[in-house]
Amino acid sequence: MRIDRLEAVMITDSRGKPTLETTISANALSATASVPSGKSTGIHEAVELRGPDGNVAEAIANVNGEIARAIVGKRFSLDELDAALIKLDGTPNKSRLGANAILSVSIAAQRLLAMLEDIPLWKAIEKRAGTTAGAPRLFMNVMNGGVHADFKLPFQEYLVVVDGTTREAFATAKEAFEKLGERLDGVPMGDEGGYAPAFDQLEEPFEILAELVAQFPHTSIAIDAAASEFYRDGQYHILDASYSADDLARIYSGLVEKFPFHSIEDPFDEESAGDFTRFTASVGEKILVIGDDFTVTNPDRILKAREERAINAVLIKPNQIGTVKEAIEAVRATSAAGWKSVASHRSGETNDTFIADFAYGVGAHGIKAGGLGQKERMEKYYRLLAIEREAEHK
Ligand code: PGA
Ligand code: ZN
Repeated sequence: MRIDRLEAVMITDSRGKPTLETTISANALSATASVPSGKSTGIHEAVELRGPDGNVAEAIANVNGEIARAIVGKRFSLDELDAALIKLDGTPNKSRLGANAILSVSIAAQRLLAMLEDIPLWKAIEKRAGTTAGAPRLFMNVMNGGVHADFKLPFQEYLVVVDGTTREAFATAKEAFEKLGERLDGVPMGDEGGYAPAFDQLEEPFEILAELVAQFPHTSIAIDAAASEFYRDGQYHILDASYSADDLARIYSGLVEKFPFHSIEDPFDEESAGDFTRFTASVGEKILVIGDDFTVTNPDRILKAREERAINAVLIKPNQIGTVKEAIEAVRATSAAGWKSVASHRSGETNDTFIADFAYGVGAHGIKAGGLGQKERMEKYYRLLAIEREAEHK
């Protein structure tokens, strides 16, 4: 496609923080994309360009200035465009132009090409990635903890995992979310639109979740420990006590024995590969051990994790790496290892639903799109439902 116009503006995300929304045009058609923002970010993530007060003025100026000058008026395939953006930035972690600036262009271009080809976005992603599209399991974050809720709960996310068609899975997830709401009546919402209760017993949220999922078919539970957030001085700090990695592994193993677990994400600090490897060797037959901050959607880090047999599933967040091309490569590296991929939103979200099309298009094992208490999260579920209808009518 020959790009005619490119323009970024500032919008605010679900936390009220600024982010970019970029519009790209070709052949009298326009597509818009906005980018999310993480809070428990991995240290090896591509760099989100922000000013000292969190503003994105420089990232916006980079899209409207340098990036526009480099691509407007020229013809690109999507892979050529993403490669040109990576080259133009010139740093290993997109710190010069900003991964947020680059990704907004990359997603908008992917969306525009689907429009030009008159096919659904998920179909265009499936074609580009060479994958088999299909409905992802819903990994719904129903109780928010960690940095997403002032550590009222020690782990960052307590999720209900639901298998099945999106229509069935969403109906189940919605009913489960509402049932949990009756039980947790009056508790506030956390960053990802789930309930943010406070319990001082480690097992209490799991007892509640186990009781909840026992009432629904095809459901199990999961956590994102986001352990780097409570790791200091070689110890893991949970509920006023501190634990070694081995102690923590024993805690997780005890939970996995007792409760119907599907997966544990980031069980250890992002730099503790050996602990991941030992843990995956002990529980990897039973549950998924998912890398997020550990792998940061980076194909090289996924390859390294494969050599170390450190995990058996990978979280895929396009904004951790900065282009759709590399996010697809991360999915391919994950599949090549024989592992499962779980596509994910960020804790600071916009109404953009790209991640739903991405998850469906690459046939991801699952999607994390948050709780039902926030409109930015609901948009993703509505899009997944629409995708399923589109796919049925083909
Ligand atoms: P983040 O959290 O978007 O704040 O990084 C999500 C996650 O850790 O999975
Ligand atoms: Zn995570």
